[in-house]
Amino acid sequence: MAVPKAVLAEVHKLRAELERHNYQYYVLDQPLVSDAEFDRLFRQLQQLESEHPELAGPDSPTQRVGGAPLPQFEQFTHRTPMLSLNNAFSAEEVLAFDKRVREGLNSGSVEYLVEPKFDGLAVSLNYEQGVFAQGATRGDGYTGEDVTPNLRTVKSVPLRLQGKVLPKLLEVRGEVLMYRRDFDRMNQRQRANGEKEFVNPRNAAAGSLRQLDSRITAQRPLRFFAYAVGVIEGATVPKTHGQLESWLERLGLPVCPERRVVSGAQGLLTFYSQMGTKRADLAYEIDGVVYKVNSLAAQRQLGYVARAPRFAIAHKFPAEEASTEVLAIEVQVGRTGALTPVARLKPVFVGGVTVTNATLHNLDQVREKDVWVGDTVIVRRAGDVIPEVVRVIPEKRPADATEFQMPGQCPDPECKSKVERLESEAVYRCTGGLYCPAQRKQALLHFASRRAMDIEGLGEKLVDQLVDGGIVHTPADLYDRKKLNAASLAGLERMAEKSAANVIAAIEKTKGSSLPRFLFALGIYHVGEEVAKILARHFGSLEDLLNADWDALIAEKERVQKENTRRRAKDGALLDPILPGVGPEIMRSVANFLSQRHNRDVIEQLRKNGAVREESPPSVAQGRNVIGKTFVLTGSLPKLSHDEAKELIEAQGGKVAGSVSGKTDYLVAGTEAGAKLAKAEALGISILDEAGLLELLKGKR
Ligand code: IVH
Repeated sequence: MAVPKAVLAEVHKLRAELERHNYQYYVLDQPLVSDAEFDRLFRQLQQLESEHPELAGPDSPTQRVGGAPLPQFEQFTHRTPMLSLNNAFSAEEVLAFDKRVREGLNSGSVEYLVEPKFDGLAVSLNYEQGVFAQGATRGDGYTGEDVTPNLRTVKSVPLRLQGKVLPKLLEVRGEVLMYRRDFDRMNQRQRANGEKEFVNPRNAAAGSLRQLDSRITAQRPLRFFAYAVGVIEGATVPKTHGQLESWLERLGLPVCPERRVVSGAQGLLTFYSQMGTKRADLAYEIDGVVYKVNSLAAQRQLGYVARAPRFAIAHKFPAEEASTEVLAIEVQVGRTGALTPVARLKPVFVGGVTVTNATLHNLDQVREKDVWVGDTVIVRRAGDVIPEVVRVIPEKRPADATEFQMPGQCPDPECKSKVERLESEAVYRCTGGLYCPAQRKQALLHFASRRAMDIEGLGEKLVDQLVDGGIVHTPADLYDRKKLNAASLAGLERMAEKSAANVIAAIEKTKGSSLPRFLFALGIYHVGEEVAKILARHFGSLEDLLNADWDALIAEKERVQKENTRRRAKDGALLDPILPGVGPEIMRSVANFLSQRHNRDVIEQLRKNGAVREESPPSVAQGRNVIGKTFVLTGSLPKLSHDEAKELIEAQGGKVAGSVSGKTDYLVAGTEAGAKLAKAEALGISILDEAGLLELLKGKR
């Protein structure tokens, strides 16, 4: 049934009227009617639309109340990337920016469009034939989330652009934010309803826009400011950024009234200080000002570097600071064992949030800033970064203040391993790598990684579940079938019987690993693959490595190093180096690791469960034919894979190359050896089969 003409006209009239009132209220801040009158018109339109559902359209003001929740947001690929801005933090950096611009344009004084830098979140609004069609968050700049239904609820976002001639396509870019007074009122409401309060307007705006239920977004007082455009089709583009923003304003979009056109660096700095003064009186939060070269032709000429335009810059206000008291200095153990001192603070409101902790980074910083427990300190919070202690106010140090000491033991009560500090770094770390609860997940992931034990399928998700579920505490538990078995795995997420069996099979397969792999898998700080190979070659067996007198070895290493430095200066013959390629610092790290009973326990269990091959490979003396020799592997060998053969060769100091050349000493050829074999023969290189290789490794050839 056709909608009567009169109804159609009435619906159009109501929509236009309501949108005008929205505009007057939310964009111009000059309401023409009372809230009650607005509500009356709104209900009238709702009524007509419900009587004639075929009239419902995406640009009706009734759409602003939100609709059914989405299961998830769709990805939205921006037509042109939404870049970020480079930052300037000082007048010097602004002068340098202006200089770069002038040089790039080869011109004298340059004109800029300047405006506040809104502290909200960037979005893109797409208007097709003047109707709001789609909107998205910035995301990573290339793809964001399609939050169209949520953006429709933002009253200052026009659902239809004003004007007679409208562009075919217009992508408006700008910021969604919340006014301070709206934020306060909303938080009061949240509190009254016993719901969670938001920390600051920025977070509140971001959280509100990313609601899957647009009816919730509709109840949040979001605002929008336009400040740039993306794609424009079917319209004459203005000549300057200032004119562009005025054009957006004429189309009915909210644009910041604080924007100005200024000239030269002096103009920029004057605006910066004016906005600094005005900042506290603005209805919304800003974290700086943005300078954009005014001429759009000049913008195009300057172009972009990496992910930011050369023609614009954000001049940030200094981070907010506040003073408070240090109640305690505690130590946190990171996933890799690094110890970080953290100041526990008397709660203080700074940069829009209440701060109770601040990082002190490391002991050197604590000493340099001379922070004591009991001190009054200045803390700073910039953007979303972790708050930090800037400095102490020395006059305020109380008599009972205490100096911080780095603990000698890991602060985790279960671990308590020795804490080490290696000379080359400022970081203290816990040496209980195989056992420390804080390092558990990281240790397991490293242990299972491809170049370590290579346990297929043991990734982050599974490790999280195994550790959080208390099934696995150390790498040794992986091989303990009393702990890790079909039954204990069955309770985990996405662990059907089959995949549980696969996980166990994958672990079983890694039993009897070579010594270098095993040593690398232990995750000893500073022991990478190369060092692991050198250690394995030197000691020949795990037993010998564990029983070595490490202190004596380190002392000997240092003695030989010193002596050789002396001899080198005199061109004398050098002493044989101890553990070449492994410096005293690395040795100390190994020694510390092995000095921890917990680590030794885990290693013992791993041995007992067969994780590592016990029989010692041929000793170095036997393998003297191999040291420094270059091997090339070709064709398939009867028992060994190429990787295994490579490990055996390297364990004895040989090298494995990919192609045959004059430098090749041995070609190890299996079945179906082809071109490499022919070339080696032509070059007269010794050719071995697998058995020959093994004999060579055993020193029998
Ligand atoms: S202009 C071509 N103007 O700052 C220039 N950006 O750190 C494009 N921002 O993600 C940006 N206020 O969302 C511009 N008045 C303003 C701004 C502004 C805030 C945001 C923008 C961007 C971020 C860069």
